[in-house]
Amino acid sequence: MTERNALCWCGSGKKYKHCHLAFDERIAGMKFNFFRGQVRPPKKIINNEKDIEGIKKSGVVNDGTLDLMAEMIRPGIDTETLNKAAHEYIVSHGAIPACLDYEGYPKSVCISINDVVCHGIPSKDTILKEGDIVNIDCTTILDGYFADASRMFMIGEVSPAAERLVRVTKECMELGIEAAKPWHYLGDIGAACGSHAHKNGYSVVTDLGGHGVGKAFHLEPFVPHVGEKNTGMLLVPGMVLTVEPMINEGTYKVTTDKKDGWTVRTKDHKLSAQWEKTILITETGTEVLSS
Ligand code: MF3
Ligand code: CO
Ligand code: CO
Repeated sequence: MTERNALCWCGSGKKYKHCHLAFDERIAGMKFNFFRGQVRPPKKIINNEKDIEGIKKSGVVNDGTLDLMAEMIRPGIDTETLNKAAHEYIVSHGAIPACLDYEGYPKSVCISINDVVCHGIPSKDTILKEGDIVNIDCTTILDGYFADASRMFMIGEVSPAAERLVRVTKECMELGIEAAKPWHYLGDIGAACGSHAHKNGYSVVTDLGGHGVGKAFHLEPFVPHVGEKNTGMLLVPGMVLTVEPMINEGTYKVTTDKKDGWTVRTKDHKLSAQWEKTILITETGTEVLSS
């Protein structure tokens, strides 16, 4: 227990009574339903003002990288050229590409085409062609703070079916973010993402999901993109997490490439799409920190 006049546990440098005392009392007064998996958020994932500023600045570089990708992407370009440009952009802004060497991942961004769900490895031999749908997922570390986002790109003219998948997947992410409210529960996000996907005849990948992010790449909580309202971790101001639904035309089942150990594909080789933003839970709703 922090003493009223002691410094707050969040590291703000303020007295506890002027910082997170009311917050702690609110949580202490709540009933958590075990059968709904309701849990308190751990203190270590609550960010203070300084942390939030740090993640925001990292997000500016991350968004700039994705903007550069948007300018460069075209039919005929190989994905290693995009990777190299992203790497140089991040480094020239005093930042570090988080993906490079992350658990042995060999490149600075992930580029995932058509049936590739995520973690596609850029290569000189992978050439984008008219009709492809492509996700570029980028994570930047600036002054120790991580920001993580991904966007879909349609190469030239794509089929109406592919276009619909890309659009509905973006709507799933947006509805998930709208459902993320302080003093509500994590399951609300998955309930919103999942019901929109299912209503449109799509499946939702469950083996992978969103995550807490900020002072590290992947923090608590795991963010499922299916679920039930009022279940899981309590969402509170200061939490930073990603919403990044992976939505499939066919089965939700995925396989990881045995040779490269990274590339995740749909089991039936039907199309998959993904959009990702890093969001902050605020006193009143959410703020986007990277997109
Ligand atoms: N950026 C991905 C995410 O959204 C993680 C990529 S890990 C990598 O969580 F090693 F493949 F880069
Ligand atoms: Co990402
Ligand atoms: Co992520």
